[in-house]
Amino acid sequence: MNATPHAVTLEGVSVRYGRGMAWSRSWFDAVRQVDLRIDAGQTVGLVGESGSGKSTLAKVCLGLLRPSEGTARLGDEAIYGIGRRHPGSLAAVLQHPEWSLNPKLSIGRSIAEPLGVAGVHGEQAAARVTQMLDHVGLNAAYATRLPHELSGGQRQRASIARALVTMPRFIVFDEAVSALDVSIQAQILNLVKTLQQEFRFAALFISHDLGAVRYVSHEVVVLRQGTVQERAPARSFYAAMANPYVRQLQTDSGLL
Ligand SMILES: Nc1ncnc2c1ncn2[C@@H]1O[C@H](COP(=O)(O)OP(=O)(O)O)[C@@H](O)[C@H]1O
Ligand SMILES: [Mg+2]
Repeated sequence: MNATPHAVTLEGVSVRYGRGMAWSRSWFDAVRQVDLRIDAGQTVGLVGESGSGKSTLAKVCLGLLRPSEGTARLGDEAIYGIGRRHPGSLAAVLQHPEWSLNPKLSIGRSIAEPLGVAGVHGEQAAARVTQMLDHVGLNAAYATRLPHELSGGQRQRASIARALVTMPRFIVFDEAVSALDVSIQAQILNLVKTLQQEFRFAALFISHDLGAVRYVSHEVVVLRQGTVQERAPARSFYAAMANPYVRQLQTDSGLL
């Protein structure tokens, strides 16, 4: 048994994509030799310009993509395919809540869906949904509403409830606040922090916004063209500002 069974561990992970048709195929590594470790209750923030490989790395961490090289583990088990072997063991919150909330299903049904996959039904599931709505700051009455009846911030709260309802060990937030108004972003970032203190999940928080990432993360990892350019504890991250690429990211996110 691993000493820290909740840790997400990536060792030497590379992901190679093919481009073009079979007769003119070329390959490139969207992610190259990345090492990463996230413990229970910890958030690693991932920043980098568009196309730097953030979402590709997220897919590896969610077990949706098998690394071309290296290993990705949740505890001591390979992550690839883990969602099928252990439904509800990990979850994702994406940029647009519409991607995880079915427009035709009530909020309550959407939140209950991952529970059903994990084998929890009926009264027990309903109670859990009510509980989760409360945890994300939504009134129980929202269970019967449709996604379009909620504001953008409320919808993102609902998709966080859906991600959290199975008590996953690990959650990926991929640009989860990027589409929201700035004032709403702060509320959602605070919610993520509070929920993590309560539920102790490990988190990978991805954004092109360095400020948001520093705010929620314990450690910040900077990705450039698929490789780790910098990594530092969020507290001392400004020391990495000597790096011109990081300075540019900060300028782009409007902090300078
Ligand atoms: N399925 C795919 N097939 C081929 N290339 C891809 C695929 N997904 C992403 N890419 C390429 O890999 C690189 C990294 O993409 P991505 O991980 O989405 O970056 P980010 O999330 O940082 O914007 C980009 O050059 C992108 O065009
Ligand atoms: Mg992306």
